[in-house]
Order: sequence, then C-alpha cells, then structure tokens
Amino acid sequence: MIFKATAEAPSNLAFVKYWGKRDNGLRLPTNNSISVNLSDASTITSVEFDPDLKEDKLTIRNNTKPIEPEFSKRVFKHIDRIRNLSGYTHRANIQTRNTFPSGVGIASSASGFAALTVAACAALELKLSTKELSELARLGSGSACRSIPDGFTEWIACDEEQRSYAIELASPSHWDIQIITVIVSNQTKQISSTIGHDLAKTSPFFQTRISAMPVRLETLRSALLEREFQIFGRQTELEAISFHTIAMTSPMQTASGWNSGIYYWLPESLEIMLAVQNWRSGGLEVYFTLDAGPTVHLLCLRNAVPQVLAAIHEIESRQIERKWDILINSPAKGARVIKTEGNL
Ligand code: DP6
Repeated sequence: MIFKATAEAPSNLAFVKYWGKRDNGLRLPTNNSISVNLSDASTITSVEFDPDLKEDKLTIRNNTKPIEPEFSKRVFKHIDRIRNLSGYTHRANIQTRNTFPSGVGIASSASGFAALTVAACAALELKLSTKELSELARLGSGSACRSIPDGFTEWIACDEEQRSYAIELASPSHWDIQIITVIVSNQTKQISSTIGHDLAKTSPFFQTRISAMPVRLETLRSALLEREFQIFGRQTELEAISFHTIAMTSPMQTASGWNSGIYYWLPESLEIMLAVQNWRSGGLEVYFTLDAGPTVHLLCLRNAVPQVLAAIHEIESRQIERKWDILINSPAKGARVIKTEGNL
C-alpha cells in the first residue's frame, strides 16, 4: 500500500521582509512580515510513502543543475518531522517541479516547503489546521509559512502562546494589484538567504530597522486593507531599501575573501529601480521591491500594466541582445492538495 498526495503551493512576495531570526533552528523571525501569494509562480509536489523504499528519494523536474546535498538534507529532515508526527516509518518518494526558475529572487523555498508540507501531511492523513500547517512549513523555510493561507498574509513572529505562523489578512480578490517580475539574470545567487539572515544582526543598522518595524507594519497593513495604493507602494519600496541596507552592511568572510556586505542586486536591477523613479515622476504609478536576488518586482494596479510593460521593454532594448524574462502575477490562494491516492 502506498500513501500518496500531490499539492500545489504559490510562491509569495513580501512587502515587509523577513530578515533576521530570533532562533535559527526553529526559524523564528525577528519581526512580523507581510506578503502576497503569487498566481503564476508555484511548486507542485507529490509525496508517496512506500514500504518498499529503503531511503527517501527526491527528484526535481525541470531542474538544470544537480540537487545540492545540503538541499536534499533539508528536505529529508522536513519529511522526517512530518513522518514522526504520523507514527509511520515508510520512506518517501518526493517529486517536485517549479513553474518558475529557482534562485533568482522568487522564493522557491517558500512554495517548495509549503507544497511539501501539505502533500506529505495529506499523504499521511494528518489532519492539521491552517495554522498548524503554516507552523510546520515554517520549520522547512521561514517564508513558506506565508504560502499556506490564502491571498495577502501576515506572518505573526510570536503570538501570546509563543507560536509563530501566518494568517490571512485579506483574500486574493480583496485587491487586484499586479506584480510584474523582471528576471534580469538566471544565475543562482551567491549567498543564500539562510546565511544572509544569520548575518543581519551584524549590521550596525539592524536595531534601527527593528525599532521602526511596528510603525512600518501598521502603516503598510492598513494601506493594504484600505487599498491605498500610494501609501502601500511607498512603504513597500522603503522597506525593500531598508532590507537591502541591512544586507549591504552585513560583512562576511567567504571562501574567496572578505566582503563588506551582501549585494543581491545587479547593475540591471539598479537600472530598473532608477527608471521606476523616472516613470513615477512622469505620472506612472509603479513601485519596486527586491528579495535576496537581482530580480525586480514591480507593483502596479491592473490598468497600468500595459504602460509598465512598455516602459520595461524600452529599457531592455537599450542594450542589444538583452532579453529579460518577465512574469505577471496576481494575488492568489495558498497551498492546497490537488490529488490524493491511497489511504492509510
Ligand atoms: C529576502 O524564507 O528563504 O525573501 O527561513 O532561511 O529558508 P529561510 O529563509 P527564507 O528567507 C526569505 C527572505 C526574503 C524576504 C521574505 O521573503 O520575507
């Protein structure tokens, strides 16, 4: 008898970033974060518990590079966690695929660990609440907890019971903002976000960022709930720069030498960021944010999409043979089971 389920989980884009942890092992963040689930950037994962398997197996479809041993270890550790909750000992065959390139600033670990959690729990018929699934996904990758509930979500760093999970702030239909993602490079980032989190507190500006966080969260959350696009966009952009300031002022020793900080963006990212400021002064209402990679996410209302696309294509064409991948995402539902086979 095999116990199998398939789940799909969206990636999410943070407006208020998770950067820095109170507890590395438990992936407890220093601050709350706010994000939206993405409609067209997801991970689909099947988990099959099979008594005939001798060890856990992981296959990533449409993966161009071999799977890093560290990553498999992290996935198997997560499967162990879930298996231990069920009391079963069967090994798992995990097959997964992303609908977008990984390591370019769209969080594949968010959608990946959310899909893995939901598929494995369904395969083992563990009946967990959304809150419990979110807590469990968080142990795999922090931002994965925000891909469990629907729509716009807030990750509560620590509630009265010392629990940490994401809740739905508003449904996907609450606000039809569009996320235009410009992938300026397909190179995998050099410094993982897990390492970046660890270094965050070494930045002399980290405490300043954390002190300003309650006001930032309150302002952005209410702009989102009230659909105040200008306030929302400004706060999102300020927050992106605050997060990158921390990264850029977190010194580190790498195998190849000492760096004064982590630069996740590339010259092309900066070219787009500067262009956005120009577009805005010309009346086009658009804001940017970037995660731990060079990819630039542009936020606008639906009626501005054609103009924003035309403006991006204009700067793309400033250099011959430059071709950027562009994705357009809307707010989306959270992780869900899409297929089950076999019963315990
Ligand atoms: C910059 O969730 O990838 O995207 O918990 O170590 O897996 P781990 O970190 P991860 O960090 C994401 C950081 C970010 C900001 C965000 O999504 O909030």
